[in-house]
Amino acid sequence: MDFNELAKQRYAVRQYKPLKVEEEKMKKIIEAGWVIPTAKNLQPQRFLVVNDENELVKFDKVTRYHGAPLVIIVCSDRETAWRRPYDNKDTMDIDATIATTHMMMAAQDLGLGSCWITYFDPEALKKEFNIPDNLEAINILEIGYADGEAKSPDRHKEMRKPIEEIVFYNKFK
Ligand SMILES: Cc1cc2nc3c(=O)[nH]c(=O)nc-3n(C[C@H](O)[C@H](O)[C@H](O)COP(=O)(O)O)c2cc1C
Repeated sequence: MDFNELAKQRYAVRQYKPLKVEEEKMKKIIEAGWVIPTAKNLQPQRFLVVNDENELVKFDKVTRYHGAPLVIIVCSDRETAWRRPYDNKDTMDIDATIATTHMMMAAQDLGLGSCWITYFDPEALKKEFNIPDNLEAINILEIGYADGEAKSPDRHKEMRKPIEEIVFYNKFK
C-alpha cells in the first residue's frame, strides 16, 4: 500500500479484540524497531516486549491501559545516546521515538492497530517492570487487533491543523 494511505488509515486504537498478536507479526514489528536509524548509529533504544497476561495487568497501575495484548515499553539509554557537542542535547528521546514510530507503522502494515502512550507514571512503570537505572522509558506502544468503529482515513482535514500552519517553504513568514 502507498505509505501515505497507510499513514492516513492509522488511528489511536483504544479498544482491542481479545485476540493475541501472532508471534510472526510480533517479530516483524520488533524488527522494524531494530533497523531504525539512530544518531551516530549508537542505538540507545531498548524494548521491553510484554505479552504475558500476568505482566500486562500491571499496566493498569501505571497508565490508562486500553487492554492491548501486546505492549512494548520503548526505553532509551542516556549514556549510550549521542550528545550534540554545541549544547550537550542528547538524542535519547528522538531515537526511541523513531523506533516507536517505525513499530507503530509496521503494526499498521500488518493489519494491527496501536496506541502510543506517553501519559504514564514513570516511577510506577520503572517499579512494576524492573526497568534498570540506566534506562528511561520514553514511550509505551499498545498493539493488537482493533475493535469498535475505525476512524476515517479522510479525517485529517478536520482533525489536523491546516497544512499551511505547519509547513513553510524557504522562509518562515
Ligand atoms: C507523543 C504521543 C503521546 C501520546 N500519548 C497518548 C496517551 O498517553 N494516551 C492515549 O490514549 N493516546 C496518546 N497518544 C495518541 C494521540 O492522542 C493521538 O494520536 C492523537 O490524538 C491523534 O489521533 P489519531 O492518532 O487517532 O489520529 C499519543 C500520541 C503521541 C504521538
